[in-house]
Amino acid sequence: MTHERVGVGVVGTGLMGRRHAENVARWIPEARLAAAFDADQKLASRVGQELDAVACASLDALLDRDDVRAVIIASPSRFHAEQAVAALSRGKDVLLEKPMAHSLADCDRVIAAAERGSARLQIGFMRRYDPAYAEAKRLVASGALGEPLLVRAVHRDREATHLPAASGVTDMMFESTIHDFDLSRFFLGDEIASVTTTAAVLCHTRGAHGHAPNAALNSVRFAGGALADIETYWGALYAYDVRTEVVCAEGTAMIGSERRTSLDVYTPAGASHDLFPGFLERFADAYRAEVSDFVKGTAERRPPAVSGLDGRAAVAAALAGIASYESGVTAPVRISGR
Ligand SMILES: NC(=O)c1ccc[n+]([C@@H]2O[C@H](COP(=O)([O-])OP(=O)(O)OC[C@H]3O[C@@H](n4cnc5c(N)ncnc54)[C@H](O)[C@@H]3O)[C@@H](O)[C@H]2O)c1
Repeated sequence: MTHERVGVGVVGTGLMGRRHAENVARWIPEARLAAAFDADQKLASRVGQELDAVACASLDALLDRDDVRAVIIASPSRFHAEQAVAALSRGKDVLLEKPMAHSLADCDRVIAAAERGSARLQIGFMRRYDPAYAEAKRLVASGALGEPLLVRAVHRDREATHLPAASGVTDMMFESTIHDFDLSRFFLGDEIASVTTTAAVLCHTRGAHGHAPNAALNSVRFAGGALADIETYWGALYAYDVRTEVVCAEGTAMIGSERRTSLDVYTPAGASHDLFPGFLERFADAYRAEVSDFVKGTAERRPPAVSGLDGRAAVAAALAGIASYESGVTAPVRISGR
């Protein structure tokens, strides 16, 4: 029996969208890159030419196409809610990059648009698809390590922030820390009750100008009593460095390494090994597995592995982190907003 390949449209073909488009076009046999749209027409045209897809002049033009059955939204996050609602309302399955939206009300609009029809909504928490994270989840869920009690996470980006001080920790929460809020829920199997965030300007440009904090420590308390401790740091010049530990009652799972390969080089000057330059290299397998699962889910009409409610819960935690930083005290996670 032959199955028609799922036609995919990509919205926003910057760093992340371009990678999704490449994965669809080159690595997912069940998918076909049908169309691309970017507010910068030149970028969409380049993707169209290089990956043999139609470059659309608008989001509407992309959504109007019958050969686009599923849409990957990788535009800047301030457009996510509006674009996801538009796509879901037209019956297109959506893989929506994180953060799902900037408010719980917008998250609810997106979830409601999915619930009104039969379109599937998946949120782009791709770390869940990384082979080591996925295996750790399998182990923890099997009970082999006992009850999961504590998650410790490190997320270091190479680039420092150059945002104005007034922007606070909002971008850091929505762009980076949100992954670890999601992963800690994923591993602990519980909901976040409160977040205490402290942050500071600690990087090499400290003192040069008053920019937004580049380092945050987030202390997270779960409803059932478990804890998570999340470091988010922008400006680690040495590498992109993401690691997580899930401490359980009878063992611990340590995920990730700053090492890109297992190659060590020894010279008279000392020993060295490769480090990851960025997220596209560190999570290459995860991005591929994520899009593959999204497309197969579209063909099979099964529920997405990362739901709108998962996306919403992580946004709620990010909003609590922002509130805690601004108030200087622990912020409860608000769950209402519908
Ligand atoms: N899951 C991950 O690991 C991961 C990693 C990086 C980025 N992201 C997410 O992907 C999204 C995009 O990030 P990026 O790093 O690719 O940013 P980017 O700036 O490289 O790309 C964004 C692209 O969107 C285009 N754009 C702007 N307004 C648009 C609109 N209204 N409609 C369509 N396109 C528009 C821009 O021209 C640009 O090409 C963000 O939500 C970000 O958080 C996720």
